[in-house]
Amino acid sequence: DGIGQEVIPAAAQVLQATGMPFTFTQADAGFETFQRTGTALPQATLAAVQAADTTLFGAVSSPSQKTPGYQSPILALRQTFDLYANLRPARTLPVPTSRPGIDLLMVRENTEDLYVRRERREGDRAIAERIITRQASERITRVACQQARKRRRHLTIVHKANVLAETCGLFREAALAVAAHYPELTVQEVLVDTMAMRLVRDPESFDVIVTTNLFGDILSDEAAGLVGGLGLAPSANIGERAAVFEPVHGSAPDIAGKGIANPMAAILAAAMLLDHLGEAEAAQAVTQAVETVLRQGPHTPDLGGQATTTQVTQAIIQALH
Ligand code: NAI
Ligand code: MG
Repeated sequence: DGIGQEVIPAAAQVLQATGMPFTFTQADAGFETFQRTGTALPQATLAAVQAADTTLFGAVSSPSQKTPGYQSPILALRQTFDLYANLRPARTLPVPTSRPGIDLLMVRENTEDLYVRRERREGDRAIAERIITRQASERITRVACQQARKRRRHLTIVHKANVLAETCGLFREAALAVAAHYPELTVQEVLVDTMAMRLVRDPESFDVIVTTNLFGDILSDEAAGLVGGLGLAPSANIGERAAVFEPVHGSAPDIAGKGIANPMAAILAAAMLLDHLGEAEAAQAVTQAVETVLRQGPHTPDLGGQATTTQVTQAIIQALH
């Protein structure tokens, strides 16, 4: 939906420009698809994700008012393919709106918590179930520990177990138990509200942060805001059977169709995709090309420039060469 249809073709062009022998398959998802076909995530799309080595996902619109029959396809994809690890790096980039010294990785549990959407109305009461399991908490912490081992070896576990003794309590218990198997890591716990403040106050002191789904959703957008905004924030949804890479941003209806969306978040997501495929060198080249264009321009309006999506994409491809 929206700018997803503008930034994904841009990212695909950059992938092609790396010289890697990619074969692309295109598949539909989203609110527009729902309105046209009655389903937001057609079987053909699931089959395409299943068949592919890896997937780039644009963005979908999800109306805030209840729409019968509509289910957000990105949530459905995460659940169908058990894409349990959501990796959201936030790193200082060479733009004035990016704070210096930040290099952190948010590892967000991606399959449970309040996002299981077991909600109901009882008259004027609305009730939601929050599901936290030991298994999901353990496996997400394992991913976080493995990432931390490759980085600065610092892990922060974020929860609210002082209030939510059962749900956050279980997450905390499982996370600490897993982290104990990685003696080379420095491990700390931070309560989620304190974390929201500390991300603003001293973001440079964090390396890998692991947390539950909703907290991770919120904190990763906050982290994106520290390093240049949503136009620059990539993410990965990783499972055992599939991996889906996407910009953190949504469909941006306010700028959709104008050709001015920043393609860099999607292109940085494509760099994460290359990394996941074992093509670290190509991933690095794409990231460097984005940084070159960030330093030299051209820039889209979200970064204070006047360039179009196409102009920025062409500049990145040129820098890549
Ligand atoms: P949004 O990320 O679409 O937009 C927030 C603000 O950031 C807007 O002002 C937008 O213009 C700007 N922005 C976002 N990406 C940009 C880019 N690449 N270049 C330049 N500016 C950019 O979030 P919003 O407005 O809260 O949600 C809009 C729709 O997107 C909703 O229907 C929501 O459900 C959906 N959404 C979908 C996501 C996904 O597909 N994973 C994630 C977040 C929201
Ligand atoms: Mg989000």
